[in-house]
Amino acid sequence: NQKSFIDKLHKEHTLTKEEWITLIEGRTPELSEYLFSLARKERHRYYGHDVYVRGLIEFTNYCKNDCLYCGIRKSNGNAHRYRLSEEDILNCCKEGYDLGFRTFVLQGGEDGYYTDERIIHLIRMIKEQYPDCAITLSIGEKSKESYQAYFDAGADRYLLRHETYNHEHYRQLHPSNLSPVHRQQCLRNLKDIGYQVGCGFMVGSPYQTPEHLAEDMLFMKELNPHMIGIGPFIPHHDTPFAGEAAGTLELTLYMLGLIRLMIPKVLLPATTALGTIHPKGRELGILAGANVVMPNLSPTEVRKDYLLYDNKICTGDESAQCRHCLEMRMKSVGYQVVTDRGDSLNI
Ligand code: 5AD
Ligand code: FES
Repeated sequence: NQKSFIDKLHKEHTLTKEEWITLIEGRTPELSEYLFSLARKERHRYYGHDVYVRGLIEFTNYCKNDCLYCGIRKSNGNAHRYRLSEEDILNCCKEGYDLGFRTFVLQGGEDGYYTDERIIHLIRMIKEQYPDCAITLSIGEKSKESYQAYFDAGADRYLLRHETYNHEHYRQLHPSNLSPVHRQQCLRNLKDIGYQVGCGFMVGSPYQTPEHLAEDMLFMKELNPHMIGIGPFIPHHDTPFAGEAAGTLELTLYMLGLIRLMIPKVLLPATTALGTIHPKGRELGILAGANVVMPNLSPTEVRKDYLLYDNKICTGDESAQCRHCLEMRMKSVGYQVVTDRGDSLNI
């Protein structure tokens, strides 16, 4: 009857909490293959065999937060801190534009140096030089006024993973000054303002249960975001979770397939973390229903310092290498990387 839940999800795009739990707990290799074939069908219906690319610019690894899982948490005294200047960032964009990127993702820790004024100036400069490109911000929790100001300056999209919907689980992953309610409110504010919004969570984070994952599915169904970023949790050696087990390839792929059936038009990346736990992780992610990849555009000198988790791939590669590598990888499974802003059809 798990198969009948997948058919129901395919038809109705929604399940009850109990059905989600049953489907997640009762997964088998055969069920997964069935799920992935339907997920691909949905993906092809809306996005064909195109894969959208986003140029990820990790512009600062200073962070005032102390999330227990994250390698750039403020308590990690071993992290080598850096921030890119506006000029550095614009150079990344130039390189990225020439490589065919039409979306730039500015990602960083919550760094007080990057005031609203500096962020706004940066957005204006990028938009002026690359009016045909989308700007995605991924810089954490801010006031609604700040989000509005970035939007008015030209930012198009915002990524803010909700991390986990369940309040108790959220508290097990974060220090007590961070609140799941505040984070979820940020996502609603971003949507109200008019951003294309991305939420998401780690698969296999410490203490996570199938019930938590079911709650994440219900939350995301309700939020109805344009994008959903998920990847396996991977321990970082300088965090309190250093000794915890990583999330699995198998469960991450399964969740990707379920998300594709729940929100067929959502933009779904095969993440770097997925590529880190398995050499073919990103290709398998695409075959499970993902349709986006986000290669790194950060300067090679700083890549090894933006380590949220151990063994991150691509820290020694040039942007052009990653661009080429991904093109080959996508081709190997029958998909093509396209030069396009790649806006979400889930509007
Ligand atoms: N393993 C996997 N993903 C992580 N993130 C942070 N730390 C880790 C880790 N150890 C994810 C979080 C965050 C995103 C930028 O990276 O979900 O939102
Ligand atoms: Fe960076 Fe393959 S994507 S080397």
